[in-house]
Amino acid sequence: MSIVRFGVSLEKELLEALDNYASENHFTNRSQAIRNLINNNIVTSKWQCNNLVAGSITLVYDHHKRDLLTNLTDLQHDYHNVILSSQHFHLEKDLCMEIIAVKGKAASLTELADKLIAIKGIQHGKLTMSRAD
Ligand code: NI
Repeated sequence: MSIVRFGVSLEKELLEALDNYASENHFTNRSQAIRNLINNNIVTSKWQCNNLVAGSITLVYDHHKRDLLTNLTDLQHDYHNVILSSQHFHLEKDLCMEIIAVKGKAASLTELADKLIAIKGIQHGKLTMSRAD
């Protein structure tokens, strides 16, 4: 792979944000940080398509939040055709983590993950995907 060098003009604040991002992620230089940002964003946008992918949705939440469990279950039933399994972990007295294994079209998995993460009371949610075709 050939490497191309190019100049970038950035506002001072953005450059500081880039340097913080680089140091937080233990990148050795700005090029590596920019490469990672581009990869994350462009590769992520490629997921908005019909490629067959497999992955996991991780959710962290307080199970006492009103309607949360019902909403979580309803939504998973709506998408039963892309859900392979789910596992529930009781992390602390009130805190739960759920990992949902999924397989299907990238656009469907993204849609499901977005809806799950948007449920009121979800503290953290993340979808990861890999090509599965
Ligand atoms: Ni629990």
